[in-house]
Parts: sequence; structure tokens; C-alpha cells
Amino acid sequence: RNMSLDASKLEIIKTTTPKAKLPNDQLVFGKTFTDHMLEIEWTSEKGWGKPVISPYHNLSMDPSTCVLHYAFELFEGMKAYRDSEDKIRLFRPDKNMERMNKSAARIALPTFDGEELIKLIDQLVLLDQDFVPKGAGYSLYLRPTLIGTTASLGVGIPDRALLFVIASPVGSYYGKTFKPVALEATDYAVRAWPGGSGNRKLGANYAPCVQPQIEAASRGYQQNLWLFGKEGYVTEVGTMNAFFVFKTSDGKKELVTAPLDGTILEGVTRDSILELCRERLSSDEWTISERPFTIHEVQEKAEKGELIEAFGAGTAAVVSPIDRIGWRGKDIAVPAGNGDAGELTKTLAEWIRQIQYGEKQFKNWSRE
Ligand code: COI
Repeated sequence: RNMSLDASKLEIIKTTTPKAKLPNDQLVFGKTFTDHMLEIEWTSEKGWGKPVISPYHNLSMDPSTCVLHYAFELFEGMKAYRDSEDKIRLFRPDKNMERMNKSAARIALPTFDGEELIKLIDQLVLLDQDFVPKGAGYSLYLRPTLIGTTASLGVGIPDRALLFVIASPVGSYYGKTFKPVALEATDYAVRAWPGGSGNRKLGANYAPCVQPQIEAASRGYQQNLWLFGKEGYVTEVGTMNAFFVFKTSDGKKELVTAPLDGTILEGVTRDSILELCRERLSSDEWTISERPFTIHEVQEKAEKGELIEAFGAGTAAVVSPIDRIGWRGKDIAVPAGNGDAGELTKTLAEWIRQIQYGEKQFKNWSRE
């Protein structure tokens, strides 16, 4: 019988050589990991096997394993936060599970019951809870990953897979909390396209973005702002979704981000920001838009003094102010980004922080 994922079957093998915990100021994003990891094997004959939490270890696989050749890999990024009462919280893990299953379905890997995986992640986080750092901006970054493990060079549906979760204590993704980032608008390379898989969290979406990132870095920009099409549609950053605040002709302000048209990663932070803004910002003053917009519109608005602020949002990056966007050899300056973050950027970072760290409740987003 084909078994579904069952958290009650969990086996835990504890480490006998616990690692030292680093102080917060020595945490580098994704470089050090906790004592344990979670693994669940899947086969097409038997379905999901027994979940095992065991000491962090290397994986061993046949050199022909399909993940190594055809990129049968997808991942999630989520975080566990320590609240003021030392309880550990996950932020909207159901959204990550939903997205992980969509990613799995896109590349013919097995799907699973997300609530069961959350129970297992809870157990991993509880076991390694001493690694969850304390303080605003600090958290335990969780990396659920699913790979195809069929040992064969034939391109086809994997009949074996491994779901694993590793955990890394982290601070700010860009090194310093709330430091503005400079983006280079990029049109000579394309991150995602209609009908492609740029809206799914596949490892294969990330490697091709590194060479353009190196080029942008050589000109002084940290990340690419990916454009699409001859119109120059603004899509996203690759590690973050992108948001802009414009002044509108009716004297209001517009918060704009690209719509989920298949070329945009369905960010949990993106979704949270839109929902919080729709709920908490006055509609007399604000319009919240998921709509197509181009780099030309951003440039025009900036020239007319109608670009107010811009920021990126993601699990790793949280809310990061954008201070300038390089475009065709010139910079579009983002006024509020210069030195300080904009009003809305700061407000959103604070709203999100309060919920993630359990200071304020909002719709069960923060789960103990
Ligand atoms: C995240 O925000 O969790 C990401 O996946 C971005 C990056 C670290 C790949």
C-alpha cells in the first residue's frame, strides 16, 4: 500500500556530540547548521517512509542520481523565531507547505500532507531549540528540501525521492539589518517567462541568476531587478519580491508589486504584506495594487518626484529598503532609501516583526 506522510511514525536519534552555539554577531546566513536534520524517503512502490531525525550528516548517493543531472530539486525557506517568553514560533508554515507541494508537482516529485511535515518540523525545531537565536532580526532559518534520488540517466519520473530539512541560525541576509540594497535592472538575461517555472521554488531557478549577479556586483549593485519583455516589466529580485510606492494624480499613494502571472515567486512575505496593507492602511490614502508595471514607469515617476520608496520582501531578506536602481548606465534614485528607509518600509518591517516574534497576534500567522 502506498503510504502517506505520517508524523506519528517519527524516529529520533539524538546526537552524542552537540555543537557549540555561535553568538549572534558571528552568524553568517546559511553557513552553520544545528545538531540534527529530518529525513523522509519516498518510493513509488511504498510511498512515504518512516520520518527520521538524526545527527546532521552528509548525504551519500550514486553519481547517476537524477537530482545531480536533471535538477530534480525544490526547496522552501521558512523561519523559527524565539519570542520574549522563550517560546519558539513558526510564521505561516502552511503557506510554505502549500508552495512546496506546488513545486513538487511541477517537477514530477511526490506531494505530501503539509500538516504532517509541519509536525515533523516542529519536532526538529524543538530538539534543536537551543540554536534558535534571540533578538529582532535573528531566527532559525529552516530549509525543507525535496530531491529526486532515482539512480538513472534516463530523463523520466523519479521513482525515489528524499525530503530533508536542515536548519541554520541566522541574522540578516545582507549582513546588516535594514541596510538599503542597490539593484541593477537587468534585461540582457531573463529569470522567468510565461509558461516557465519561475513561480516555483526550484533550485534550478537560482544558479542561472548568479552570473548576472556577479556582473551587477562589478558595477556596484548587490542584486538584479529582473525585467521581462521588450516593455521592461518589473518582475522580482530572485531573493525577494519587489514593491514600489508611487504618488498618484488623485493625491493618494499606491503600493505596487507585480501580479502572480507565472513569472513571480509566490512569496509568503509578499502575501503577508499585501494582506496587512489591505487590512491596515486607509483606502482614502492608499491603493494596493498587484499589477504589471515597467522600469520606464518607475523611471518616469522618479523623474517627476512621484517615486516615494521601494523595498524588497522575502523570508531570508525580510523587508529590505532599496535605495537605487541602476538602469542603462544611470541610477534611478529612490528618495526614502537614501540613508534611511521609507515610512511604509519601516512600518511594514515592524508589523511583520511584531507578528513573527509573537508580540502581536494576527490571524494565527504565528504558530507556537
Ligand atoms: C528565502 O527568502 O527564503 C529564499 O529562498 C531566498 C534565498 C535565500 C534563496
